[in-house]
Parts: sequence; C-alpha cells; structure tokens
Amino acid sequence: MNLQEVDILITAEEIKAKVQELGRLVAEDYRGRDLLVIGILKGAFMFMADLIREIDTPLEIDFMAVSSYGASTVSSGEVKIIKDLDYSIKGRNILIVEDIIDTGLTVKYISSILHKREPASIKICCMLDKPHRRKTDIKADFSGFTVDDRFIVGYGLDYAEKYREYPAICELKASVHQKQEDRDE
Ligand code: IMP
Ligand code: MG
Repeated sequence: MNLQEVDILITAEEIKAKVQELGRLVAEDYRGRDLLVIGILKGAFMFMADLIREIDTPLEIDFMAVSSYGASTVSSGEVKIIKDLDYSIKGRNILIVEDIIDTGLTVKYISSILHKREPASIKICCMLDKPHRRKTDIKADFSGFTVDDRFIVGYGLDYAEKYREYPAICELKASVHQKQEDRDE
C-alpha cells in the first residue's frame, strides 16, 4: 500500500471480524432455505469471496457486472449491464452483494431488473454504506461499515481501476483524485 496516496480507515483485521459477523447473520437468515448469492463486479469480488466462506449454509453464487463510475468520483446515476447472470433466478432467494452503497442508484437499478425476473426474495448485503449521499430509498438488509462522504479505495474498490488489491479499506487522498480530475478537464 502506498501510504502517500491513501489513509487506512479500516484494517484487514477489522474487515475480517466484520465479515465473520455478516456471514453469521446471513447464514441464520437463510438456514434451511435456498440461497443464491449474486456479486456485483468488479468492486464486490473480494468481499464476496470472503463473505461466502463465512456463510455456513449451502449456497450458490453468480455474478453480474455493471458500469458505474468512470474515472470520476461522482456518480452519473447511469448503470449499464456489462455481464448478466448465468442462471435464472425465478423462485430463488437472492442476496445481492455490493461493495458500497453510495447514492443507491446502482443497487436500486439492479434490484428492479432482478425483481422482474420473479425471484422468491431479494435482499442486499453491502460492505460499506454512505447513507448521507443517498438519492433513493434503498437500504441494505446486511451492512458492514458506515462511512462518511469520503472517497474509498481498497478491498475491491477502485479509483480509475487502481487500488483494488489493497487489503485495507482506505481513503484516497484528495491530492490524488484532484490531480486526475484536473487532467480530465
Ligand atoms: P451508487 O450508485 O452511487 O450507490 O454507487 C455505487 C457504486 O459506485 C459502487 O458499487 C462502487 O462501485 C462505486 N462507488 C461509490 N462510492 C465509491 C467510493 O467511495 N469508492 C469507490 N467506488 C465507489
Ligand atoms: Mg466501481
């Protein structure tokens, strides 16, 4: 991790404890029922991989990829499906796994698309939540950490495709994204 570019907000150890707790809650909720966990690429890949190992009840996984932010740190509200699910979700209990809910537009859009495919139920699990930035009424059923209005990278989250591999949840220093935005203008 380049500590000149980021500040650590949540350490790998703290993440691990939280993911264990979330996994327990999810397992309790779905025990004895069918469960299909749907990870939203790319941001959720790391959280998803850790989370499912903490869910001690049978499950299946699938992935969906959507475009959200470009290089900019501001949500456009426009979401495009880049990769759809491999399987039908009709009659299934689905758990959408997201890295972060910011405005809520992405997850709202995804759940409305999936709703039309008639699953038995839809719940949402996010690692991070920025409730102050919400532009919709969406709320996660399982949520890891609440963060202020800061730009987060690491643990799967990127800025212009970088920093995803960092094991901690970090804040990208303003000096770093400011430089990129000045170049974009
Ligand atoms: P929303 O539609 O505004 O809720 O944004 C959701 C998506 O934007 C997330 O799945 C992330 O991919 C991305 N995003 C939102 N906030 C951040 C952030 O602080 N860092 C990195 N990506 C973010
Ligand atoms: Mg993203």
